[in-house]
Amino acid sequence: MNILILQASPRANGNTAWMAEEYKKAAEAAGHQVTLVNVSRKKIAGCIACEYCHGKGNGACVQKDDMQELYPLMAEAEVLVLAAPIYYFTLCAQIQAPIQRMYCVNAPQKVKKMALMVSSYSPGVYTGATAEYKDICRYWGAEDSGIVTAKIDEQKTDETRNKIQALVAAL
Ligand SMILES: Cc1cc2nc3c(=O)[nH]c(=O)nc-3n(C[C@H](O)[C@H](O)[C@H](O)COP(=O)(O)O)c2cc1C
Repeated sequence: MNILILQASPRANGNTAWMAEEYKKAAEAAGHQVTLVNVSRKKIAGCIACEYCHGKGNGACVQKDDMQELYPLMAEAEVLVLAAPIYYFTLCAQIQAPIQRMYCVNAPQKVKKMALMVSSYSPGVYTGATAEYKDICRYWGAEDSGIVTAKIDEQKTDETRNKIQALVAAL
């Protein structure tokens, strides 16, 4: 399957980046085609609610920033993986902007499955992130293929790698 991973941590060698790389390795080993995008390195502004896309723009966003590179990747993705650290009890801002900029097309056209990988310091901080993720799965008509979380003592461990490999196996 065509898999798109959006990795949203600004820390290039951080825990979320590690999870995204592990997912990519496992998915490629299983024969999937994988694109990994570090959205934290992209200039992607929040939606400005101008409604250009739903009028004259006919589905195109008026903001010509790096989201323009993501639209074609989102359009082709059959599996969309969100990988993000928890910032203040929710998914970090860097993942929210690309999700919300999908407003112009409403949903990634081909997405069948999604997955979520989240990193945090503390345990028990995933309620908001998982609720948001599950609502998006439902709204985009995608099956939730699973969630992997990694708090401080679970980061970059064999156990977490195994959970990520199980996510890929569940596709
Ligand atoms: C702005 C900011 C807010 C954070 N808020 C939380 C939080 O609410 N709960 C928590 O457990 N960790 C919080 N953390 C810690 C990160 O989630 C944690 O260090 C995570 O592993 C970072 O992932 P990364 O290594 O991929 O960047 C926060 C970190 C930052 C920089």
